[in-house]
Amino acid sequence: MGSDIQLGSWLEVATEAAQAGGSVLRQYWGRLEEVREKGRPGDLVTDADRHGEAAILQVLRRYAPDHDILAEESGLLGRQQSPFLWAIDPLDGTTNYAHQYPWFAVSIGLLVEGVPQLGVVYNPVSDHLFQAAAGLGATCNHQPIKVSITDNLAHSLLATGFAYDRRETNDNNYPEFCRFTHLTQGVRRCGAAALDLAYVAYGAIDGYWERGLSPWDIAAGIVLVREAGGQTSAYDGTPVILSSGRILATNGHLHQAMSQVLQAMPAPQPLPFLQ
Ligand code: IPD
Ligand code: CA
Ligand code: CA
Repeated sequence: MGSDIQLGSWLEVATEAAQAGGSVLRQYWGRLEEVREKGRPGDLVTDADRHGEAAILQVLRRYAPDHDILAEESGLLGRQQSPFLWAIDPLDGTTNYAHQYPWFAVSIGLLVEGVPQLGVVYNPVSDHLFQAAAGLGATCNHQPIKVSITDNLAHSLLATGFAYDRRETNDNNYPEFCRFTHLTQGVRRCGAAALDLAYVAYGAIDGYWERGLSPWDIAAGIVLVREAGGQTSAYDGTPVILSSGRILATNGHLHQAMSQVLQAMPAPQPLPFLQ
């Protein structure tokens, strides 16, 4: 495990990389030449995703040539022998970006021996920079942040999202969305998982759940939530398994209640209005 001093310097590297990626996103903002589907309908990639990722990789290769990297557009890079693995989403919220909806971010997490230890989430349009490292706390634009104190689902504001396989599976998160919408003051679906987690850490969102995610969507946000005093787990409260794609992240006070709701959901069924 890295010492606080080492993590502090890797946090600076991650921040430099996120800002380099963010400046590419600003350059292409409103000027995209290429938007195409990667595979599943709606799963977009743009020239901003690709060039943003290249700018991030350039910074990481300069400071951490021996570390492994898992980047959304490039895949797994490195010899897979390092205890350090960077998980990078150069543009979380590509659909928003392509439609000029200004809610997206660069997300950079660092796993040490498989455990997320550091995270930076940066929205280059609003210039909101979220940073956290294990034991060092969480900040937004260098000011400490904390999760909310809401302890009742009926008073809560939640967030979630829907994966790109939602048209192909009955396990599409629609029933969970309905259930929580019924139980809370609202559920937001803003379209950038990294920002959903950042805003749990910030205390604006009380809880967040989602399925079908990738490690680069959540590695950074997990550290933000934990360092801001919140809790992250699988839906059943056991430790998050990044490869499972499922996460529950809350202010801690709502964790059990949200976990109970998620575990009580009936097995996924075909919905009549989708047939
Ligand atoms: C997506 C966003 C969205 C979430 C999807 C992700 P992308 O990432 O985080 O909020 O619901 O599951 O894949 O494709 O914009 O990087
Ligand atoms: Ca993403
Ligand atoms: Ca992305």
